[in-house]
Amino acid sequence: MRTPELFTDPEAWRARCLSAREAGARLALVPTMGALHEGHLSLLREARVRADRGGGPGLSLATIFVNPTQFGPGEDLSRYPRDLTGDLEKCARAGVDWVLAPERAERIFGPDHETWVTVERVSAGLCGASRPGHFRGVATVVAKLFNLTRPHLALFGEKDYQQLAVIRALSRDLSFGIEIVGMPIVREPDGLALSSRNAYLAPADRARALSLSAALRAAQEETAEGRRDAAELRARARARLEASEVRVDYVEVVHPETLAKVDCAEPGSVMLLAAFVGATRLIDNARLP
Ligand code: PAJ
Repeated sequence: MRTPELFTDPEAWRARCLSAREAGARLALVPTMGALHEGHLSLLREARVRADRGGGPGLSLATIFVNPTQFGPGEDLSRYPRDLTGDLEKCARAGVDWVLAPERAERIFGPDHETWVTVERVSAGLCGASRPGHFRGVATVVAKLFNLTRPHLALFGEKDYQQLAVIRALSRDLSFGIEIVGMPIVREPDGLALSSRNAYLAPADRARALSLSAALRAAQEETAEGRRDAAELRARARARLEASEVRVDYVEVVHPETLAKVDCAEPGSVMLLAAFVGATRLIDNARLP
């Protein structure tokens, strides 16, 4: 186990990534906001494997940056969990070679920053409707990280299903030429999807939060039995969440790529939901059979 090399200066990172690429290394990037858990680690381990698949020496790269531009006013930017020392240890165990962790946000978004990336259609509904500006902040920081790193591939979790769709569209439309790899959701044994924000949950809230994955599982079972009407699936999921005293933000059944709402769940349609458990907003999703 080797401690990854830590970069705090994005320009030093850019120079090293570029010369590694020119020397023939295959670069695999995992962007994160830190407070790493098993969900992140599954991406980092896969990055290690895929970086080494190029035939030559590979580089597994992680970024840790709590991006202020993707948080709305009144959201949890100031209290978002941070643990750089613990994160570096976890990166070491996952075989990460280099970590970029700028110590100040101005290192990434200077005072004169005025350029934004907007992915229009897939950003519009769902979390984009509840969190105005969120995906603009995500797309802009990811575009910057892609330019600073110029990786061959980048890995993202399906836990943030809409975010993954936004990043696929971004990479396609702006011709980044980066392979975008989507990775399955990692869950606790009881079903709760791992999230850095689970740290906010008091024990009673944690029990309530199980209703998200339970509602998705029930919808999968109903669909498998042939109950495919999306309005009914959504209504039953909503009722399950509300029965657990969880405040529903949205429940939708969508096409897996366009994220357009569907009236009837087809095999592969995705149920996406967002809900407030106490003050904590959680998201989860599942593919319907
Ligand atoms: P963050 O929430 O730290 O997540 C980093 C990556 O880990 C994302 O691709 C996310 O989908 C993935 N991830 C989180 N929980 C997961 C789980 N339970 N199973 C599988 N993957 C999981 O997403 C962000 O950061 C930011 O928006 C970012 C892309 C870094 C841009 O700032």
